[in-house]
Amino acid sequence: MKAEVIIVGAGPSGLMLGHLLAQAGIDAVILERQPAQYVLSRIRAGVLEQGTVDILAQLNLDTRLQKEGLTHDFVSLTDRDRLIKIPVQELTGKHVVVYGQTEITKDLMDAAPSRGVQTIYEAADVALHDIEGTRPYVTYRKNGIEHRIDGRFIVGCDGYHGVSRQAIPACAGSSVESIYPFGWLGILADVPPCADEVVYASHDNGFALASMRSNSRSRYYLQVPTSEQIEHWPDDRIWDELKIRLGATFATSITTGPSIEKSIAPLRSFIFETMRYGSLFLAGDAAHIVPPTGAKGLNLAASDIGFLAPALIAYFREKNTIGIQAYESKALTRVWKSSRFAWYLTKLMHNFPEDGEFGRKMQIAELSYVASSRAAQTTIAENYIGLL
Ligand code: APR
Ligand code: PHB
Repeated sequence: MKAEVIIVGAGPSGLMLGHLLAQAGIDAVILERQPAQYVLSRIRAGVLEQGTVDILAQLNLDTRLQKEGLTHDFVSLTDRDRLIKIPVQELTGKHVVVYGQTEITKDLMDAAPSRGVQTIYEAADVALHDIEGTRPYVTYRKNGIEHRIDGRFIVGCDGYHGVSRQAIPACAGSSVESIYPFGWLGILADVPPCADEVVYASHDNGFALASMRSNSRSRYYLQVPTSEQIEHWPDDRIWDELKIRLGATFATSITTGPSIEKSIAPLRSFIFETMRYGSLFLAGDAAHIVPPTGAKGLNLAASDIGFLAPALIAYFREKNTIGIQAYESKALTRVWKSSRFAWYLTKLMHNFPEDGEFGRKMQIAELSYVASSRAAQTTIAENYIGLL
């Protein structure tokens, strides 16, 4: 089998790229290790920057997003009694849209057959070959049968644990990593959210976050030690702790209810600075992980694709290589800026016991400054809605 572009992974990066290429009439195929239903069941973030919304609009896949997405003109930071409600729209002229990654994935998947986006699910043992040259190919197994696809380019959209990044020789790849000494315990529940905006809370017990998927579905998080086990957190304990950490302003408006999903995820920053090697490009989580503070993961995946798709289209239409040559540097510039913001918000709002009393006093002083300074709030707002 042949395809101009072979995409590994059918998460948001792979599906967006598959759609953009199909829309431009470029022959692409997506290979996904998991069944479609498994990909759809993963609960991830859902705060969309305008650039992400624009890609879905370009694909004419924003009907449900426009109808069901929640426009957020504010974001709040709270520190016990202090509430800093940042007027994002007033300060930047832009807003974010709350619409779950699961919903985006569903919209992209549902529209794939009619656009001719070919996705092969349950493709096992995907392996990349001859990526240094101009005739790379991919092998995989499906239903016990070995297959081969020849292409011009391979795009690794296979997430942090995928095979594409591993295909780059160690001597050619370079990465930078920082592990945070805690994780986030997330809970999803069919209860109305406690606020109209996303709330980031700093507390001596640790960070908490109040978010949502809709007006009737809430998503909350608590900072917990990396070694924490979910069994130690029955729902009641989670709700009690959220009320403490989110403080008096929100405690009374939290509606509790049974969890429909609960999990603990570690926090890390990881940037693989080699986003192109020969005929292989990396995009999304395959190339970078940001801590979830600030909700940049999905938006970075979308912006990588926003740079890469037109570059590949220009290559196939006009043999123009300027875009594909510029991809790595353009994408990395944005990745580093988003990683900086995620790091800043993580450092500002979480409990870092190893930073001692001085570290805590610095956080309080910074929050006091943000509370009183329009300039500081504008800085946070413009990072939150997304930098180019
Ligand atoms: N072969 C084929 N597919 C694979 C392989 C493999 N060896 N390894 C992983 N995959 C698939 C996964 O099953 C998954 O469906 O690649 C897909 C990667 O999807 P994501 O992890 O969602 O990554 P990406 O599309 O880049 O989206 C980034 O996801 O983690 C969040 O915060 C992140 O929201 C951001 C988004
Ligand atoms: C979420 O809604 O899951 C969410 C919101 C904001 C974040 C992270 C996650 O910073």
